[in-house]
Amino acid sequence: MRKKVTVVGAGNVGASCALRIADKELADVVLVDVAEGVPQGKGLDLLQSGPVEGYNSSVIGANDYAPTAGSDVVVITAGLARKPGMSRDDLLMANYEVVKSVTKQVAAHSPNAILVLVTNPLDAMCWTAMQVSGFPKNRVIGMAGVLDTARFRTFIAAELNVAPASVTAMVLGGHGDTMVPLVRLSSVAGIPLTELLDKTTLDGLVNRARNGGAEIVKLLKTGSAYYAPASAAVEMVQSILLDQKKVLPCSAYLEGEYGLKGMFVGVPVKLGSQGIEKIYELRLEEDEKAALAKSAGAVTELIEILQQKAGN
Ligand code: 2OP
Repeated sequence: MRKKVTVVGAGNVGASCALRIADKELADVVLVDVAEGVPQGKGLDLLQSGPVEGYNSSVIGANDYAPTAGSDVVVITAGLARKPGMSRDDLLMANYEVVKSVTKQVAAHSPNAILVLVTNPLDAMCWTAMQVSGFPKNRVIGMAGVLDTARFRTFIAAELNVAPASVTAMVLGGHGDTMVPLVRLSSVAGIPLTELLDKTTLDGLVNRARNGGAEIVKLLKTGSAYYAPASAAVEMVQSILLDQKKVLPCSAYLEGEYGLKGMFVGVPVKLGSQGIEKIYELRLEEDEKAALAKSAGAVTELIEILQQKAGN
């Protein structure tokens, strides 16, 4: 039987996800958005690329969730994107309401789905989706680390003039200004980065990766990045649907790993047909631990705000 993926939010990220999923023929796609006509129009447009591109995936658009019923994976991209000068955290309250309402409907129509969250502030939105859906922790996953490492890998590859595919990188922590790119665990075909680049250059690359989203927001002026975020989300969807068991940095619900509890934060996980099949706990150096704790603290602050709101 063909797999079904729902993408909620037919904006730039959502439509790009639908495009890449169809292009790779991973599944039939249902694109959902509240804007009347937009998901239907983009869905039809994507469907009509099929004969030219040679893909056979069905793509439809809808304003309601009936057509999404029984989805294997649901990618949630709905919500506001930041504008220049805004941090991802500034979107908290507006996107909380969006993710809450979307997740309720998704969970009712696809109770067995695996949720891949993209909406920002990412780690807090994962927490919201888990609370609202009541899904187990293996079925609520946030897309952040794949994107953040893709940015880091891109900058490293450009600096060294090597193929980006030869660069592996690790980024831990929340998907925010405090994310933790781990130079010690990043390499070019196994050659430690520290043997290839001096500290000043490395610090510059780390900072650029950390601010990779903001760099694009500043250039676009009207929204945030979408091609790379969609590629990252679809790599996760692919690993789940094809049970590839890729080890990828994703936002995952922690219950004591890394000394953190009851929160989502970016860590390396194994992604397969069950969603998160394993969380890898790395042995961190003292400075890395401190940076992760700081990043987790920033996520906790957001969750506390949401808890207060939910309690009211
Ligand atoms: C980013 O560009 C979308 O959060 C996303 O970093």
